[in-house]
Amino acid sequence: SASGLNGHRHYMHKEIFEQPQAVVDTLEGRIANQEVLVDSFGASAAQVFERISQVQIIACGTSYHAGLVAKYWFEDILRLPCQVEVASEYRYRNPVIANNTLVVTISQSGETADTLAALKQIQALKDSRTELFIPTLTICNVPESSLIRASDLTFLTHAGPEIGVASTKAFTTQLVALALLLVAIGKTQKCLTAHREGLIVKGLIKLPGLISDCLAHEADIKLLAQSFADKHHAIFLGRGTMYPIAMEGALKLKEISYIHAEAYPAGELKHGPLALIDETMPVIAIAPHDELIEKLKSNLQEVSARGGQMIVFEDERSGVSSESNFNVIKATTNVGRITAPITFNIALQLLSYHVALIKGTDVDQPRNLAKSVTVE
Ligand code: G6P
Repeated sequence: SASGLNGHRHYMHKEIFEQPQAVVDTLEGRIANQEVLVDSFGASAAQVFERISQVQIIACGTSYHAGLVAKYWFEDILRLPCQVEVASEYRYRNPVIANNTLVVTISQSGETADTLAALKQIQALKDSRTELFIPTLTICNVPESSLIRASDLTFLTHAGPEIGVASTKAFTTQLVALALLLVAIGKTQKCLTAHREGLIVKGLIKLPGLISDCLAHEADIKLLAQSFADKHHAIFLGRGTMYPIAMEGALKLKEISYIHAEAYPAGELKHGPLALIDETMPVIAIAPHDELIEKLKSNLQEVSARGGQMIVFEDERSGVSSESNFNVIKATTNVGRITAPITFNIALQLLSYHVALIKGTDVDQPRNLAKSVTVE
């Protein structure tokens, strides 16, 4: 009902603006005194996390992108091998699952057919080879859903009901859940110091404020969106965790504005996509001030030298604006490893939303798509 929109024109817009609260609600009861409460993942979580030596994440769509961000975090911060795969491939390719693998399914709805089939297949393997230790965890937004019922461990994101087909606040809270999982595994395995844990928790506590600050850039982003009115293609660039965020930005744009968009890791440009660049091609880059910023800047120079229209989302210290005439939005103040991808994604959500408004598409119910794909 229109009353459920609370003054917003679309559910997607409402849900984008609910994100600060969704993060607060997802953290509630899961942290205390700068610590992550390991049993947020279930009473047996500590015993499980102690024994695992790798993680396999299985998901679809936007939830898959959350998994890809987590891979960067788990391997870099914990040195824990992490593999991420779309469920529709995983379930049919007879994958190898090593003993002591934590299998994580991520899903907003908990009802996605491919993800559920993959999880059931793993359960069948466990039933037939009882000597294997392959615990399963579902990160999900819907209690009592099929995935929740089929998993050993569970973590509910408390994003609240998500109605817009394009996932926004569920994705943000999935990333929060994965950050909590990272800390929970890290402290159980004693490969994350209390100091590092404290820093991550502090970052997560600051996150609602960082998201609100990013949302305050809506007017600038709306202005930028106008240049997409006549566009048919777009390229999103990022490096590190910003690569999966670029993928998510491209997916959002495709889903709701029907503009063909592709994401590339910026270092891969020279291996093909550079051939697509001309003055009609918008290139959206996510440029946090991290150890790869100088490399990213030279990637951006390569694009601008070929006439591409650069749109750059940066933080206060990135300094892209000072050295070029790109269209630059300072989307956020300097943020940390965990909070940066979550925050930059908010700016991309707003960009897609405003491009879709200009295109006049059905933002909440894009053609051919369903909120939850419960058939194969
Ligand atoms: C559909 C939705 C996407 C969602 C995907 C996975 O394609 O339109 O927004 O990311 O399913 O859904 P899940 O509920 O498993 O996260």
